[in-house]
Amino acid sequence: MLNVVVMVSGGGTNLQAIIDAVEAGTITNTKIAGVISNNKNAYALERAAKHGIPAACISPKDFEDRAQFNQKLLEAVDAFEPDLVVLAGFLVVIPPEMTAKYRNRMINIHPSLIPSFCGTGYYGLKVHEAALARGVKVVGATVHFVDEGTDTGPIILQKAVEVRHGDTPRELQRRVMEQAEWKILPRAIDLIANGRVTVEDQKTVIEEPTRSGQEAEMKVLIVGSGGREHAIAASAAKSPKVTKMYCAPGNAGIAEFAECVPIGAMEFDKLTAFAKENRIDLVIVGMDDPLVGGLVDELEAVGIRTFGPRKNAAILEGSKAFSKNLMKKYNIPTAAFENFIDPDAAVAYLETAKFPIVLKADGLALGKGVLICQNLEEAKEGVKTIMLDKKFGSAGNEMVVEEFLVGREVSVLSFVDGKTIKTMTSAQDHKRAGDGDTGLNTGGMGTFSPSPFYTDEVEQFCEKYIYQATVDAMAEEGRPFKGVIFFGLILTEDGPKVLEYNARFGDPEAQVVLPRMKNDLIEVVEACIDGCLGQVELEFEDNAAVCVVLASDGYPLKYEKGFAISGLEKFKEHEGYYCFHAGTKFDGDKIVTNGGRVLGVTAKGRNLREARENAYAATDWVEFGNKYMRHDIGKAIDEA
Ligand code: AMP
Ligand code: GLY
Repeated sequence: MLNVVVMVSGGGTNLQAIIDAVEAGTITNTKIAGVISNNKNAYALERAAKHGIPAACISPKDFEDRAQFNQKLLEAVDAFEPDLVVLAGFLVVIPPEMTAKYRNRMINIHPSLIPSFCGTGYYGLKVHEAALARGVKVVGATVHFVDEGTDTGPIILQKAVEVRHGDTPRELQRRVMEQAEWKILPRAIDLIANGRVTVEDQKTVIEEPTRSGQEAEMKVLIVGSGGREHAIAASAAKSPKVTKMYCAPGNAGIAEFAECVPIGAMEFDKLTAFAKENRIDLVIVGMDDPLVGGLVDELEAVGIRTFGPRKNAAILEGSKAFSKNLMKKYNIPTAAFENFIDPDAAVAYLETAKFPIVLKADGLALGKGVLICQNLEEAKEGVKTIMLDKKFGSAGNEMVVEEFLVGREVSVLSFVDGKTIKTMTSAQDHKRAGDGDTGLNTGGMGTFSPSPFYTDEVEQFCEKYIYQATVDAMAEEGRPFKGVIFFGLILTEDGPKVLEYNARFGDPEAQVVLPRMKNDLIEVVEACIDGCLGQVELEFEDNAAVCVVLASDGYPLKYEKGFAISGLEKFKEHEGYYCFHAGTKFDGDKIVTNGGRVLGVTAKGRNLREARENAYAATDWVEFGNKYMRHDIGKAIDEA
């Protein structure tokens, strides 16, 4: 943990940027131990108080001579036992004893590029007035170590900002703060906290992040209980690094790889206690609810390495209103939309809208909070269902109304480390319960991978306008995303657009994508946590996979449970065949059905057609009461 003392004279916007970055997790391994100001009225002191950070004020006015003040200032700094002193707009000359004592452990943010344009004696707005008076075309900010000179120490980071025609000093100052200072100061602290900055011959060397992942003997806990978690467990079990796996709560299939512990995915206290007691090295959160609820934050708070987005980033899935606004703000292609919190306003809008139109409950609704309405009457009924009757609970407090798009859907899952994104092979889901895409929406009745409609051209478009743009937008919003982003895409006549984001592996997408992945899943997951995904090359087998979901008849409405399942052992005898459990449990030593979606039968093949044949052949191997499946999973392949 890097103990940091921040020294400020004024408003403290740079201090705020550091506080925000620590809270958002953009700065890691860092604690703000204290704030020191020379000015009693500095607003920075209030900011510190608001965030419970101890602060001290040492004003030169309270001392008879400079030497006394210098001594007190140094004492105040020392009292916090800092590893790093950050001058974030501190307008007092640093005592030479302090410079000597904190050599290469004290940094300063300077609101211009040095040494190309500096000039000594300028601070605050004066820097920008001087820049404009000089007619420079580029300004910026610099973070550097403090040495005896004025802004002459080794430079850590710089960022340039262009001067615009007609800029006033204030406008320029604001842009330099927003675009440069508030970005590079937290970044520099993060680099130092993670041991990546060294000083040699008055120059800094910044190292690429190293992969801190453990070598071996890892204990892994997976959170969830469906086919996705079974696929994650099967993949993780192949890693030589893993010696012991747990799953909470798990199911009868996952039990082959992991010890299932009877803790629900939303029982955060029990999960953190279990992880601590059992010295878990890595937690992988599979499900959306705990992610959106902040399980990752809670585990990290007790020092457990966890794969998945924090609460402030999982909102990408947790609120459709948030994700739609994000796409609009950052020009990421998506359906045109309006958000509503007032049902009357929504109805008034729908009265002049074009049909069909799509209504979406803002929050999580088990993939069922989306209503496609053919006319005004249906739409009014939809507003009632979502916003008044609250069929999806508080998820319906806000509602998105969006344009109905026509096109093929593709699911693209990706690994993200906060900055870098690497996409996995594509897949396609079948959401409706019945053959020919009829019947109710479900969690997913089957998948195939890759999608033949996800061409190189489509991929290039998405790389240019969607994938990195989403990751950058989240970072820009102070919500760096680490984990899996699932892009629900629709390929329209006007190009690919984002239908939805999920903050986790898809289910059943994971059941066709993970079996085709050649990488060690644990290594990739650790690279995401450590922020060095750039060093990983994702590799997938050059084949195909199809998953057919075996459900209980009646799903997604009413269905029975508790039927004995036979034939599961056949999958052990065949390479390239998997039977992922979605809703099963042990009844004595028998395995019985325990959910709507019961099993995901996945098979690989050299191509999609062969994989489909293999998967359907394997659906005959297992039997249970009320077995139901779609017969046209992967039919779209024939149209490719
Ligand atoms: P979502 O939960 O947002 O993925 O929506 C569930 C399903 O509803 C999607 O997979 C689509 O089939 C359909 N859907 C959602 N939004 C739209 C839209 N704007 N136009 C057409 N279909 C949509
Ligand atoms: N198969 C869609 C989802 O996981 O949301």
